[in-house]
Amino acid sequence: MRGLESKVVFVTGAGRGIGRAIATRLAAESAKVAIADIDEKTAGETAAAIGKGAIAVRIDVTDGASVRAAVAETERRLGPIHALVNNAGWDKVEPFVKSEESTWDKVIAINLKGPILCARAVLDGMIQRGAGKIVSISSDAGRVGSSGEAVYSAAKAGVIGFSKTLARELARYHINVNVVCPGPTNTALFREIAGNNPKLMDALKRAVPFGRLGEPDDLAGAVAFLASADADFITGQTISVSGGLTMA
Ligand SMILES: NC(=O)c1ccc[n+]([C@@H]2O[C@H](COP(=O)([O-])OP(=O)(O)OC[C@H]3O[C@@H](n4cnc5c(N)ncnc54)[C@H](O)[C@@H]3O)[C@@H](O)[C@H]2O)c1
Repeated sequence: MRGLESKVVFVTGAGRGIGRAIATRLAAESAKVAIADIDEKTAGETAAAIGKGAIAVRIDVTDGASVRAAVAETERRLGPIHALVNNAGWDKVEPFVKSEESTWDKVIAINLKGPILCARAVLDGMIQRGAGKIVSISSDAGRVGSSGEAVYSAAKAGVIGFSKTLARELARYHINVNVVCPGPTNTALFREIAGNNPKLMDALKRAVPFGRLGEPDDLAGAVAFLASADADFITGQTISVSGGLTMA
């Protein structure tokens, strides 16, 4: 037991992929989980699969009003949010010089502004209660760069800088802010990007010391740990969960 029982956790992008695995793991540790996703269908399916204590909530993390409404709905239905997991993300892989401004805007809005809006929406309550956890999913791309992902890498690096500053500002309220960085992980997003490129898949696997892609469940334990009381004295940290791809 590490203090997650009956705690409310708000996971963005939890309809599928890594977010779904995180929400499922947190529910297995007896947390009450809000499956917050722009895709109401997958959010509903995930909440139904988890069952008791899980609710589906529509959110567009790029829209402040939508974020505030989703947080308010969660607190009304489940109670005060103990932990926010900023997981929703999106990427399009292409050389920077071939990418368009509209793509940069979308990448920055989902991957960087989203976590900022979500953090802002939960923080008044956390500060008032003198407790809370924020765990954001960045990427190894945000630590070391990644060809074809220039603006995504910038947004993910931004999440790390944002989190470190929040960690400093919020420690006095006993709020912990940490970051988890996946490497290439076998999700629908990843398959859309690399699935039709066996050479790229092979190269990525070979670059990972553990010799395989990550699976969504690989990420869930690290996030659950950082959302739990076991991590009460850990803040401002960035941990890669990528089979050793990035060591820094
Ligand atoms: N899969 C990888 O290889 C990999 C590697 C590094 C980092 N990541 C990061 O991990 C996180 C999860 O990625 P994934 O691979 O599970 O992706 P995914 O596409 O499988 O899942 C992302 C979820 O976010 C939701 N979403 C997208 N835009 C949204 C919005 N505006 N508002 C609310 N929800 C929205 C989608 O509906 C989807 O359910 C992302 O932040 C991603 O950048 C993934």
